[in-house]
Amino acid sequence: MIHGIAALMNTTPWGALVESTTVRSRLFDVGYERYDLAERLNVSESDPEFQALLAEFEDLPADPYATDAGRYRRYARGVMLPWSRTFTWIPEVRQSESDSVNGYFQGDFNPDFAGVVRTLPAMTESSLNNQLLKDIVLFDFDQTTWSAADRAWPLHVGVHLIKLSIDDEEREAISSPNELHQDGEPFVFAHLMYRRNAIGGHNVIAPPRCRHMIPSEISPDLIMAEFELTRPLESYGITDEKVSHYVAPIRKGSSEEAGQRAVVLVDFTVMRQHI
Ligand SMILES: [Fe+2]
Repeated sequence: MIHGIAALMNTTPWGALVESTTVRSRLFDVGYERYDLAERLNVSESDPEFQALLAEFEDLPADPYATDAGRYRRYARGVMLPWSRTFTWIPEVRQSESDSVNGYFQGDFNPDFAGVVRTLPAMTESSLNNQLLKDIVLFDFDQTTWSAADRAWPLHVGVHLIKLSIDDEEREAISSPNELHQDGEPFVFAHLMYRRNAIGGHNVIAPPRCRHMIPSEISPDLIMAEFELTRPLESYGITDEKVSHYVAPIRKGSSEEAGQRAVVLVDFTVMRQHI
């Protein structure tokens, strides 16, 4: 990858001369960065678009690949054109009148689903039209760094709405994979929507070589960051090749209601021509 505060001229394998101006960022240089999107996007909790996006998490379907993990989700795919900063959704796959899905593929990066295309429930029409969600995708794109050759191609954008929810005091709701890992997509962002009566769910960032381990198994001096997202739209991003990351399971807190943690995940991958 190319980075640095410079205007760069680069010849792609296809012979086109591409000009790119890239800006050094902590996300790219260190491998992770934290953001307060409520402040950056000037959004309050009472904002109608925030409330509408929040409502999408109320009736998320159970993850069809882990129906007893306390994990609920929808997924949508989009395309970002880096040269015009234009984002559009890719049409979902309609399986029946009431059932639409999108395929999610991580290659061999998720050991729980190596080589598997997961068929996940599609996001609703109302969530695809949510302006705050589109603004979040654009914000995330603006944080990413690409070589001039990569910027000559569209980016695939994956957007997940994921809720961990558990009402059994004896059990945990878990993310997949439940270990330090890399996702495969070059840039990934997580945005907290809410935490309710939840214990746990903290994040850990570590070097790539710590993947497949849980944080308690690695030397404390390898932990690059450990934090908990608590406020609405509190966020972090990772440059996947530079770090591994982890989110801990959650348990139900002391109130009556279920323990819940809801996030929007956004990932970016370069698309390529295959001949
Ligand atoms: Fe991940």
